[in-house]
Amino acid sequence: MEFTVRAMERGDIPRILMIENCSFPSPWTYQAFSSELKNKFAVYFVVLADNEIVGYAGMWLCPGEAHVTTVAVHPEFRGRGLGKLLMKTLIEYSRVRGAATMVLEVRPSNVAALNLYKSLGFRQIGWRKNYYIETREDALVMLRNLQQETFLKQRNEKR
Ligand SMILES: CC(C)(COP(=O)(O)OP(=O)(O)OC[C@H]1O[C@@H](n2cnc3c(N)ncnc32)[C@H](O)[C@@H]1OP(=O)(O)O)[C@@H](O)C(=O)NCCC(=O)NCCS
Repeated sequence: MEFTVRAMERGDIPRILMIENCSFPSPWTYQAFSSELKNKFAVYFVVLADNEIVGYAGMWLCPGEAHVTTVAVHPEFRGRGLGKLLMKTLIEYSRVRGAATMVLEVRPSNVAALNLYKSLGFRQIGWRKNYYIETREDALVMLRNLQQETFLKQRNEKR
């Protein structure tokens, strides 16, 4: 099976909503994705398995900082490295555009997501109280430094 990543398009939204609805307790609506695709600070990617969308991820890319807004993989395609592939795509896209840090929020109970982020070098920097309105759960805030990686990469390329 071949996996490819490309930018999200408006026509992808119905398929994305199917994955969204079985991935999150408070799924985003069609309008939420549609307005994100018009947001000049937002960047969204999808991953396809043999031409069918099986996952997506997005972020807000502001000067200096990237903020992950979502990542999800279809339940039947989890555990195959696609979450990591999507996150690496966000990281590389942000790093090349000069972001110094990447930040995200995650439920402390979401072991799969926590392990995914830890495996990519994110570390906990704090909490946001009652962040998830529907369950009144706190969010764990995680950060990965991208600036140091850019510096090291440039230094190694010069050698
Ligand atoms: C979180 C999510 C995107 C991970 O996607 P995935 O494609 O299954 O993840 P990957 O196969 O790329 O796994 C990457 C790492 O995540 C961790 N991981 C993934 N699934 C896991 C699970 N069920 N239990 C524990 N760790 C898990 C592992 O550390 C793995 O690293 P490894 O391959 O070195 O072992 C997916 O579970 C999902 O869509 N969940 C619902 C939506 C969600 O919670 N999104 C995150 C919101 S913060």
